[in-house]
Amino acid sequence: MKAYRAAILRFATDREPRHAAMYDEDGLLVVGPNAQGLQVVQAVGPYRALHARYPDLAVTHWSGRIIAPGFVDLHSHYPQANVIGSPAESLLPWLENYTFPEEKRFSSPQYSTEAAQFFIAELLRQGVTTALTFATSHPASVQAFFTEAHKHRMRLITGLCLMDRHAAADVLNQPTAPGKLDATEQSLLDSEALIRQWHGVDRLGYAITPRFAPSCSDAQLRGSGELAAMYPDVWIQSHAAENKAEIAWARALFPASRSYLATYADFGLLRERAIYAHCIHLDDADRALMRDTGAAAAVCPTSNLFLGSGFFDYAGADRVGFPYGLASDVGGGTSFSPFHTMLAAYYVGREGQTKPGLSLGPQHLWWQHTAGAAQALGLKGLVGNLQPGCEADFVVLNPQATPLLARRTALAANLDELLFSMIVLGDDRLVERTVISQAIESCDPMMFSFR
Ligand code: GUN
Ligand code: ZN
Repeated sequence: MKAYRAAILRFATDREPRHAAMYDEDGLLVVGPNAQGLQVVQAVGPYRALHARYPDLAVTHWSGRIIAPGFVDLHSHYPQANVIGSPAESLLPWLENYTFPEEKRFSSPQYSTEAAQFFIAELLRQGVTTALTFATSHPASVQAFFTEAHKHRMRLITGLCLMDRHAAADVLNQPTAPGKLDATEQSLLDSEALIRQWHGVDRLGYAITPRFAPSCSDAQLRGSGELAAMYPDVWIQSHAAENKAEIAWARALFPASRSYLATYADFGLLRERAIYAHCIHLDDADRALMRDTGAAAAVCPTSNLFLGSGFFDYAGADRVGFPYGLASDVGGGTSFSPFHTMLAAYYVGREGQTKPGLSLGPQHLWWQHTAGAAQALGLKGLVGNLQPGCEADFVVLNPQATPLLARRTALAANLDELLFSMIVLGDDRLVERTVISQAIESCDPMMFSFR
């Protein structure tokens, strides 16, 4: 067992997300193995109340630091780190001009391995300990990612990107040699083989990954739904209702469905553990479909602002009541940092809302990127929180990491002010350490010239 003393942030599970934060200014976190040998939280609370229960335990004291749950990123693309910040008029030209040309390169196992190593290191550096991420249409890209993720024993979920039309053959991983199996059938066979190889290995998970309806044939969406029915505990990830031109395209391709989102339902792809990125332009019937099927939205504010896609309607989501959480959407998104994503979500909560004057509070923003995102993934009580039983994935934050952070956080009069000052001023410099259930990755402050 191990014990850590510092300020500790966690979330009550029986309170409304807006007011769920619990904070021990001088706290103790006791971590030890569960029956499966995974390090989990054994006890947490005020140091004064707890430490006498563990008289023989050496305590690591991180004075002046804050222990908080590792962040959960609900949607990203590991092959898109190199396209962050590529300017485009909107989503579809961005895909065509930057994203698809980059994704072609992932037919190479070496290229995929280097990109996976970079991506995972960056997640850890930014304090993200659980992520649901796209790979490309090349099985090599999935193998590389799982292989690297496994080395870190992280809770990472990915899947083969299913796309069998509307892009060049090498983006689609289309076999060009005659006599090869039909590409659609091959993509589904590859997906199933990858599920069997990787889903549930340590903390890894598989996600059936139709890119978005416009890039998938009826047969590929049908096959995806069939796989989802055969493997109910794997995840599903895709995109929905991100951009007006994309929606018009999806409607033209699937006119029989009631809406773009309903297309996925019609192929059996809306259910619990199904995460749809963006979900901006939904109507109430779509929202009810999300609620009734248990599917969740990955809210991607930096991406939606960067690509001009629109604003997630928080008021609409809460009025109808479906699950959602925050996501970087790298590389449409502009940052790996959960602090940048939370700040962008705050801006979105003030603008473009159907309910004027809505404002997302700091506890709710932080919850959306930790316990709330974990709940959307069906991993409530396992990650995204530091209640007893949760896997010991956490970050150690240094609120004095920069002169401005030190100055501003010292003036915080209450928890909301403290959290908000970190959301507004924070980035990777705030994350001093990322601890994952099995291994410790320390960010060496000397690595970065700005420290
Ligand atoms: N829709 C289909 N593919 C993508 C992608 O790679 N990024 C974003 N933001 N939207 C998509
Ligand atoms: Zn995406």
